[in-house]
Amino acid sequence: MIKAIVYTSNTGHTEIYAKMLGEKTGLPVYHADDAKKSLKKGTEIIYMGWLFASNIKGYAKAAKCYRVRCVCGVGLGDTGAQDEAARKAAKVPDAIPVFTLQGGMDYCRLTGINKFMIDMLTKMLTNNANRTEDETKMLELIKTGGNYVDEAHLSEVLAWFEERENT
Ligand SMILES: Cc1cc2nc3c(=O)[nH]c(=O)nc-3n(C[C@H](O)[C@H](O)[C@H](O)COP(=O)(O)O)c2cc1C
Repeated sequence: MIKAIVYTSNTGHTEIYAKMLGEKTGLPVYHADDAKKSLKKGTEIIYMGWLFASNIKGYAKAAKCYRVRCVCGVGLGDTGAQDEAARKAAKVPDAIPVFTLQGGMDYCRLTGINKFMIDMLTKMLTNNANRTEDETKMLELIKTGGNYVDEAHLSEVLAWFEERENT
């Protein structure tokens, strides 16, 4: 039985989703740094991390401590659009569902390597005359920023959880 939600968040969007999901499921929510104080090794959890170059931040570490039953990756792209790319990059086994959720871009809260990488990506996409439609959309989202967190994006995760816990 799933006992908790564990998350990692850089600029806050994943944290909001984790707390929303916690309210909906009744599960306690822990930041990955604090989870060890409260959860035993091997506890069944839902893991939520932000997307970094398609990878799900913190998943590999969480998978070493807990039995991860579901993974959510929060990124700038559309909800559901990066499920398979994130699974591949984070090496999530096929038996574990992966849901990608649209978070947002809060450029002011980026620092260090993360800020540098977004600046580089912005330059690269701006200078690429052969950008795909998706890349152009991503560039606009990076430039305009914004918070796209919405309870509706959690509907598939919730449906999965309810089916699993009620059968
Ligand atoms: C260095 C870097 C790489 C990123 N890579 C991706 C990506 O591959 N796919 C995506 O959809 N979003 C990507 N993003 C956007 C973040 O995942 C997005 O801003 C997310 O909402 C951050 O979650 P947080 O606020 O919980 O930290 C990236 C952001 C940064 C800073």
